[in-house]
Amino acid sequence: MSAELMEILDENIVYLATSTTEGKPNVVPIGLAHATNDEELLIVDVLFNKTRKNLEENPEVAISFTDMKRLQSYQLKGRAEIFKSGEIYEKTLDIMKEKAERQRESLEEITDPEVSKRARKISEMHKRLKPKAAVLIKVEEIYSHIPESKERE
Ligand SMILES: Cc1cc2nc3c(=O)[nH]c(=O)nc-3n(C[C@H](O)[C@H](O)[C@H](O)COP(=O)(O)O)c2cc1C
Repeated sequence: MSAELMEILDENIVYLATSTTEGKPNVVPIGLAHATNDEELLIVDVLFNKTRKNLEENPEVAISFTDMKRLQSYQLKGRAEIFKSGEIYEKTLDIMKEKAERQRESLEEITDPEVSKRARKISEMHKRLKPKAAVLIKVEEIYSHIPESKERE
């Protein structure tokens, strides 16, 4: 992953696709994703249900995300590993706590009172929830969703 791609991952909501062994797909938004190096990223399981079951039976995943400021859009494919305790779990919790705190600070910028109320409610709920696992994804393939521009002849 390039440095820019790692930043884009960090700053945006990403969509994580998993599937059962029979191939039934499931896709969910993820707010807390973080690339630890150019080959690996971490996500945290706080609310996973079908996603978790799928990850346990089939580690093959895809992640899709778009950055509207940079006009970049990517799909990553890789293999996921679940950590319920230990060094990687603890490290993920620290990274995600810091990231969630930064996201809370950005709530100050919301001007619509209804949206601000909703955002605070979600943020408070997240503070109370205990992460169930860290998920380490080893990235194997990277695709840009933006087609190469072709000059007209
Ligand atoms: C904006 C947004 C961000 C989310 N981020 C996370 C996250 O980082 N971790 C998590 O466990 N769930 C997160 N969720 C919840 C999951 O998207 C999803 O609802 C959950 O995995 C249950 O769906 P499933 O049964 O298909 O797994 C988020 C939801 C939204 C709307």
